[in-house]
Amino acid sequence: MNSISISRRKFAQLLSAGAACAAVKPALALAKTVPRMKDPPAPSLTRIVRLSSNENPYGPSSHALKAMTDAFNLACRYPDEPADLLSEKLAKLNSVNPNQILLGDGSGEILKLCAETFTGAQRGKLVAGDPTFEAILHHATVNGAEVVKVPLTNTFAHDLAQMSTVANAGVVYICNPNNPTASITPKNELADFISKISPQTLILVDEAYFHYADSPNYESVIPLIKDHPNLIVARTFSKIYGMAGLRCGYAVAQPETIAQLRSHQSWDSVNIMAVAAAGASLNDPDQVTNGRRLNQETRTFVTTQLDAMDFKYIPSQANFVMIDVKRPVLPLIKALKERNVQVGRLFPALPNHMRLTIGKKSEMEAFLSAFRQALA
Ligand SMILES: Cc1ncc(COP(=O)(O)O)c(C=O)c1O
Repeated sequence: MNSISISRRKFAQLLSAGAACAAVKPALALAKTVPRMKDPPAPSLTRIVRLSSNENPYGPSSHALKAMTDAFNLACRYPDEPADLLSEKLAKLNSVNPNQILLGDGSGEILKLCAETFTGAQRGKLVAGDPTFEAILHHATVNGAEVVKVPLTNTFAHDLAQMSTVANAGVVYICNPNNPTASITPKNELADFISKISPQTLILVDEAYFHYADSPNYESVIPLIKDHPNLIVARTFSKIYGMAGLRCGYAVAQPETIAQLRSHQSWDSVNIMAVAAAGASLNDPDQVTNGRRLNQETRTFVTTQLDAMDFKYIPSQANFVMIDVKRPVLPLIKALKERNVQVGRLFPALPNHMRLTIGKKSEMEAFLSAFRQALA
């Protein structure tokens, strides 16, 4: 018995013991050691209603909190074995092999690795929707790649026909559901695009908001990976799993593609607490269903109020909504900030739209009150 097998087994025991304990007695399991997310935040944060970063206001699973407290004494160890266990678990969840999973320090790291590995003066351009989540555009630019922005269609889907015409594309980035519009690119169009694009071009589908989408026109493209070595899917624990501050995400792709990404990655980039929390979250049968339900209820509350105020918004398939504020959004963002309500940044392609994260109902009430004042 060597030290590696001990740490591997011990970690597995910690995860399952923590999960079992929290499942039976959630309140008791947490009460002694870990402040719950529902506790009041530090005084400096109490005044700020933060609806700017598409975070999950309900926090991580109780299973995750328990697993982290149980993992404190593993903080002196590198995360190799626990990370392998998490990869195995994610592989099972997504019906792929463990060598088809790459953990990242948030899915942001996966996006960065895709830009570094597959774009640049030699590898090709980055092609992305406009507007979309900008991180990978920044990384590709730093990597010396030309960035081609293709406006979304009039239904705020990615314009795949236009995207497929760009020559020398290293990576086509498709954020689905898309941030900041919360809109989807229909599953049939996306599958058709993936089947036709040159195998030299990598397709990166960012499914950060996968769990919130419930349209019959939406589905994950992970099942298509087996037929497409040029397809990478990015997922995160930052959204429905409520772990934005912990930093854990992952890529799914064919083994050779994963190996290429891995060669650009720092060793041990995902910390052991995030690994413990992510693994335990997957044991919680309620985290996803509750998060989805609460988001939907609160989103409906907000959009009903917006309807009554005669504001239009893009139909949302995520935990945020893009509102047409019928005027330049920047002064409104500022006016809301002065009232301690933070909303999303300006997206230059939609200068009259405000991105609003769906928080708790009380936060949305605070937003609506500040919004009415700011408009007056
Ligand atoms: C579409 C999208 N992808 C990736 C990320 C990065 O998430 P992570 O916290 O996993 O790095 C975000 C964060 O908001 C996002 O909106």
